[in-house]
Amino acid sequence: MKITWRSPSNIALIKYWGKHGNQLPNNTSLSLTLHESYTETSVELKKKRKKTTPDIDFYFEGKKNEKFAGKVFSYLDMLKDELSFIRDHKLVIRSENSFPHSAGIASSASSMSALALCLMSIKTAMEKKSSSYDKFLQEASYYARLGSGSAARSVFPEFSVWGKTTAVKNSSDEFAIPFPANYHSDFNDLQDTILIVNDKEKSVSSRAGHALMNDHPAATLRYKNAKTNLSGLLSVLKSGDWELFVSIVEAEALELHALMMTSSPSYILMKPNTLEIIERIRRFRTETKIPVCFSLDAGPNVHVIYPYFEKKKVRNFIQEELLVFCTRKKAIYDGMGNGPKMIIDE
Ligand code: DP6
Repeated sequence: MKITWRSPSNIALIKYWGKHGNQLPNNTSLSLTLHESYTETSVELKKKRKKTTPDIDFYFEGKKNEKFAGKVFSYLDMLKDELSFIRDHKLVIRSENSFPHSAGIASSASSMSALALCLMSIKTAMEKKSSSYDKFLQEASYYARLGSGSAARSVFPEFSVWGKTTAVKNSSDEFAIPFPANYHSDFNDLQDTILIVNDKEKSVSSRAGHALMNDHPAATLRYKNAKTNLSGLLSVLKSGDWELFVSIVEAEALELHALMMTSSPSYILMKPNTLEIIERIRRFRTETKIPVCFSLDAGPNVHVIYPYFEKKKVRNFIQEELLVFCTRKKAIYDGMGNGPKMIIDE
């Protein structure tokens, strides 16, 4: 049996930063699912040759990759009792990203969700019982979360919410859910251009980053702010209030970096060009009144977020004013995506 899934990356508008227990979030996060930045992963089940458990061959972009294999191996090792086919077969896993590995883009959301979707398809095929696609995605989100928290959100199209909150019905710490209501049509096909300021690997892994929140002096304040920002964003997505959208999205990005800067050890992950881009985005917004804003992951690259109906003007601005601050003028023109897709099912 061979299963292949393509699963996208996502950008958190309300950030997940800090976790406890077995991959449970300290606050609710909300993300935009992307379209162009994705991982394609196939899992092939073969007859087992070795006694070792699990028995896995892992290829990244066609080549054996020890570093990524380690992460995949420990993930599958953790799941082998729950998903017995992992124990009973040899697994050949092949994975590739649509974006260059060195683009400085966090790939765990797309890669772990693609792998989790493959595991779910195999599980469903083996159980020979049919379940609804909604249920399938919910369970895939659960397995994705165990691999990487942000991956839980990638299995849903458009906007997704992960983490229990009274503000969102059926929300859970165990899995993400799709945005629970119709959002305002202004957010249709929301655009995200990722400006590659630096394509080096991240200097702090997200695992280590989340751990910084355990003793962070501002942790309580952070979780309070995340709650306020989430409830603001939930209503903004319904009302179409761009002014509030912009201020919440930027506040979340900057708070994430403020937390890293004030943790022990401290990390400054923005580069001078990150700040230059941020300043120019704000200036352009003031001058043109176009609702364009920025978000950041735990790194120096800038996500420029803007409505589809201003695409032309914002892209001109990006090309004329911002690309010079990117490494080799690199940018990924991304935007709202439809979620994962199964590619082959043999
Ligand atoms: C800053 O999901 O990469 O991108 O659960 O340890 O794999 P692990 O962390 P990860 O953390 C993502 C952090 C973030 C914010 C976000 O995506 O919500």
